[in-house]
Amino acid sequence: LAHHHSGAIAATVSADAETTQEISVDSLTGPAEGTPDITYTLTAEKKTVKLASGRTVEAWTYNGQIPGPELRMRKGQLVEIKLINKDITEGVTLHWHGLDVPNAEDGVAGATQNAVMPGETYTYRFVAEQVGSFWYHSHQDSKEAVQKGLFGSLVVEPEGGMPPETKDITVMTHIWEDRGVAIGDNDGIQHIEIKPGTPVRLRLTNTDDWVRQSYKLLGAKFQVAAIDGTDLHEPSDLEKVSLDLLTGGRYDVTFIMPETPVTLSVNQGGKLGIVMSPDGKGDLPEHVPSMPVFDPTHYGTPAPTPFDANSHFDREFTMVLDNQLGFYNGKLTFNYTINGKVFPNTPMFMVSEGELVKTTIVNRGAVDHPMHLHGHHMLVLSRNGETVTGSPWWTDTLDVAPGEVYEVAFKADNPGLWMDHCHNLAHAAVGMTMHLMYE
Ligand code: C2O
Ligand code: CU
Repeated sequence: LAHHHSGAIAATVSADAETTQEISVDSLTGPAEGTPDITYTLTAEKKTVKLASGRTVEAWTYNGQIPGPELRMRKGQLVEIKLINKDITEGVTLHWHGLDVPNAEDGVAGATQNAVMPGETYTYRFVAEQVGSFWYHSHQDSKEAVQKGLFGSLVVEPEGGMPPETKDITVMTHIWEDRGVAIGDNDGIQHIEIKPGTPVRLRLTNTDDWVRQSYKLLGAKFQVAAIDGTDLHEPSDLEKVSLDLLTGGRYDVTFIMPETPVTLSVNQGGKLGIVMSPDGKGDLPEHVPSMPVFDPTHYGTPAPTPFDANSHFDREFTMVLDNQLGFYNGKLTFNYTINGKVFPNTPMFMVSEGELVKTTIVNRGAVDHPMHLHGHHMLVLSRNGETVTGSPWWTDTLDVAPGEVYEVAFKADNPGLWMDHCHNLAHAAVGMTMHLMYE
């Protein structure tokens, strides 16, 4: 969270931490023991990086690159990741966005650990239990850290690995203040050679604050195979649908490579994106038509879930998101509020382990809020009064647009102290942050 607020946050949280200790079961909340199946080392360091626009920026990186190295693992593996902070004076951590790890491994400075300062190291250990597309980023001074480049992708493959014939492509988009763009290996247009008939999986992640990314795929029918890492049930074919992501959200897109090129254009049909073709050649379309935005409410087919809209809920919460002019840290600014309050005065949702929790999220403000709950996955029950009738739709980062109302539910099955915040990190830094806590 914002550097200049970190004092206040640390103070609030340490008081709560004592209570957390009593209820925490070490085996659930502590690091996993044993010999790791896979290890990574990430070194946070400042580095001059060249963007697609040609401009160079003073970036904060993991291992000197943006995005940081992709972390790949398989379901069930014990993973050990060593974080070294070389020279980020503000401190760093590693948060595994979307991966429901034990609380102690969640990487939130001021809540689950102290920030790792220059010259220090910190080791994370967890068992990768969910298959899917995730990402990692620093959670100290997050707004600045992520903006400057402290992030990377994290993929958990099924136990047996990905089918070897699948072309598995991670796409992270990130926009800098100067509108230069880093995508994959920093090319504005990335060319990928793919044989016709090959199954392709694109893992789309938007890592950028403020910007709603519209990903437009042309040249093949495709499916949205997963949202926020969780597979959808029997996704049907789509065509000419814009896949929009706010920061933090992920879509996995699958298709079979045809004989002709397939393009993925990012945003307004500019020259940013990916060209996939049998000979690795081709260009992005000059003009990308406008398309309706993909809506998961009625997409795919139903499948059993551990609970649903008719379940009995032990707790029901309401989160009203808004923005209003007010004072924050002594400055007149737009505050981003939850139930009329800014952090640390926002409500704290208290739950007990095993409870079923329903939350109604209402956006009364003027801008989008991608709401991210740590440590848990939420099942979307309804969107704007319409019951979800398609595939079960699980999310960890829910895009709530102005005027929208969502009902979501989750099982309180991961004890600890968890953040729940807008992942437009600029909003989180000026108030739109709260905690979920186990009593
Ligand atoms: Cu992606 Cu609280 O973070
Ligand atoms: Cu927001």
